[in-house]
Amino acid sequence: MRKKILPANTRAKLVQSAKRVMKNAHAPYSKFRVGASIILSNGKIFSGCNVENASYGMTNCAERTAIFSAVAQFGPKIEIRAVAVVNDHGVPCSPCGACRQVIYEFGPDALIFFQGANGPKQAHITELLPEGFRLQ
Ligand code: THU
Repeated sequence: MRKKILPANTRAKLVQSAKRVMKNAHAPYSKFRVGASIILSNGKIFSGCNVENASYGMTNCAERTAIFSAVAQFGPKIEIRAVAVVNDHGVPCSPCGACRQVIYEFGPDALIFFQGANGPKQAHITELLPEGFRLQ
């Protein structure tokens, strides 16, 4: 695993976009709004919010909303460089297991910025998801 860095101003831009899109969340059930932004290797930024459903299991997390939006725009050859996740409670919130696998699909070398137990954290996707699945 490479030690990766993202310029501080790029990270700030990513977090700012995530905060903006978080306001669009549809979260009447959990009342927990989440925003996520991803930056691709081509420099483009995509953002997404969580979209809940009365049938709870149909909920789509903010991270996957952002990733699916990028695929819809550019096709499946995208490469995710980094992901930022924010929530409206200011509490620790790392990507869920399902989202980690989806991030890994398009960003096996991605850097993830999120709120940890002791403040802002960054982690490589393989730290969050060791042995991510890839179809051989
Ligand atoms: N959620 C996200 O959108 N991303 C995360 O990283 C964690 C959880 C959403 C799913 C659900 O709408 C709400 O947060 C509470 O679980």
